[in-house]
Parts: sequence; C-alpha cells; structure tokens
Amino acid sequence: MKRMLSGIKPTGQLHLGNYIGALRHFVENQEDYEMFAFIANLHCITVMQDPEELRNNLRDCVALYLACGLDPKKATIFLQTDVKAHAQLGFIACCHTYLGELNRMTQFKDKQAKGETNLSGGLYTYPSLMAADILLYDADYVPVGEDQKQHVELTRDLAERFNHRYGELFKVPEPLVSKVGARIMSLSDPSKKMSKSDDNDKGCIYLLDDLKVARKKVMSAVTDSLAQVKYDPQNQPGISNLMQIYSSLDNNRSFEEIEKEFEGKGYGDFKRAVADKVCATLEEIQNRYHTILESNLIEETLKDGAHKANAIADAKLKQVQQAIGMEIIQK
Ligand code: AMP
Ligand code: TRP
Repeated sequence: MKRMLSGIKPTGQLHLGNYIGALRHFVENQEDYEMFAFIANLHCITVMQDPEELRNNLRDCVALYLACGLDPKKATIFLQTDVKAHAQLGFIACCHTYLGELNRMTQFKDKQAKGETNLSGGLYTYPSLMAADILLYDADYVPVGEDQKQHVELTRDLAERFNHRYGELFKVPEPLVSKVGARIMSLSDPSKKMSKSDDNDKGCIYLLDDLKVARKKVMSAVTDSLAQVKYDPQNQPGISNLMQIYSSLDNNRSFEEIEKEFEGKGYGDFKRAVADKVCATLEEIQNRYHTILESNLIEETLKDGAHKANAIADAKLKQVQQAIGMEIIQK
C-alpha cells in the first residue's frame, strides 16, 4: 500500500479552505493509502502564540480531524511533538538546505514584502522542518493546498540531495494538489486566499462557525455586476470561488453542470444554494465534534498515533544519522 502524509498547523481555528484543500482529501484517501495525518504544532510556533489559545486550538484540531471523518483505525493521527524525530531530522534537513532555496520560498517572501516585522528564524527555516516531516515516513504522496506545493518540491530536492550524498535514504514524495479547491479565496476579497490570519473575519468560514454566521458570510460574499453564474476566475473571481466551494462540497460536480443549474437565476439563488451546502457540511462536522469532545477519543487517538509514528520515525532517523556519520555506537 502506498503511503500518504500531510499536516495542518493549529494556528487558529480550522476553516473551509483547510477542509476543501486538505482535510477532505485525507479522509477520502484513508481507505486506499496508508495515511499519516499529523498536527503541526512545531510549525505553528513559528509565529507567536498565546498558550491558552494554542491549547484550545490543538484540542479542536484533533477533534476536527476526527469529526471530518478521519478514522484512527485506518489513519495514523498524531501530534508532531509526540515524535521527537521531527525536530531532530528537521535540524539535519536545515543543514542541507541552501539559503538561496529558503530565500525563494514565497510564503516567507510574501510576509516580508507585506512589511511584517519581527519575523522569526523558525518561520524562515520551516520548509526544512516540513521536508523532515515528510521524509521521515518515506511518504509517496503529500495532499496539500496550492500554497504548500513549493515546500513539497523543496522536499523532493532535499530527498535527492541526501540520496546522492549518502546513498539511498529517502523516497522522493509527490505533492497531490487537486484541480478544484486547492486555493479557496476569501469571501470578502476574492483576490486573497481564505486564511486563519485574515484580518477580516467575514472572508473566512471556520468549521466551528455558528451556522447562522456561516450562512451570512456566504450571502454577503463579494461578487460582481455581470449577473451570470459562470466559471471565469479572471473576470468573476467571487462567483468562481463560490463555484469551487459548491463543487467541492457536492461530489466535485462539474462547473458546466452548475452553470446550467443556475442559468437565468440571480446571485441570491446561487448563494442560497452554496450556503445550504456549506451549512449542511458544517452541521454534520459540528455534531460529531461535540460527541468527540465528550469522549476520550482524542487522548486514545493521540497515544496510539504517537506509538505507531515513533516506531517508523525513530528507525528512519537512526538510518540517516548512521549514513551521515553522526553515530558511532550501534544502539
Ligand atoms: P495551514 O492552515 O496553513 O496549516 O494549511 C493546512 C492545509 O490546508 C495545507 O495543505 C494548505 O495548503 C491547505 N489550505 C490552507 N488554506 C487554504 C485555502 N484557502 N484553500 C485551499 N487549501 C488551503
Ligand atoms: N506547512 C504546512 C502548512 O502550513 C503544514 C505542514 C507541516 C505540512 N508539515 C507538513 C503539510 C508536511 C504536509 C506535509 O500548511
């Protein structure tokens, strides 16, 4: 069975972009792949976190993984810091990453360009840690949204570099970026990605949003004055974004079908249909989320996941350290 691995940062609450771009693919693929889904709690401290808030977000993140349909019997679900090898291979990977490569990473460049101050060293080097996350498990595939593709490409370069220098050590992974829904845009500004760090809360639908609030966000999504439901990201970015959401939540229906359904109808009708789909999805997730919080499933899942992940990651780390010449005693 081929192996798949991915993670999400618990910086803030998970949103619809996380679900459509990443989480739903973890769930879809857990049947046919050996799935590793972790919570990237090292990555999230690359920007300052409030400890109390982080604790809550972490718990919610695990609960939402489960509520969205990840099954701990099928997928290995774990917390990054429960597997110490991530930090260790992360440093080794960092020492094999050139500054030129880190300088090309658009996420850091964008933050710098926006004039954000006090950016941390961790934020700069985090693509190397992400590479380690993936390489530790010899993952074949990495399902991610569009914004993470560049990091998986760096991971491929690093895998090849290690293999070339030290002999065959790592599998070279492939990013899996779906055609539809890999970049869900903000509802209030469709030129920007839907994001946890959005200054404008109206643009982002959180998976735990009150259903009335979520509906209102969809109904007030920015559109255009062309008055036609047509997939045209250039000229109709708001409508095209809503079509991506609609399609993703409705068995990946084609855009042509959606265009036909709403031919001659107004944006109000279309938005209502999108809002219905979004709310039905959130309702199902939220119902399961509340049940999960009342059980001890979170603890059991993380314990079991850490156990399975550590066995694989420790063995790989040992192999790497031996290949590099960092160990002299066979333990
Ligand atoms: P993050 O919240 O940055 O940890 O992202 C977790 C996963 O969700 C990654 O695979 C991202 O590429 C994906 N993701 C984040 N925001 C979006 C978005 N607006 N549209 C689609 N995928 C997204
Ligand atoms: N960097 C990813 C993000 O910000 C999260 C992440 C960390 C990840 N390690 C990973 C995703 C490994 C896939 C594989 O979204």
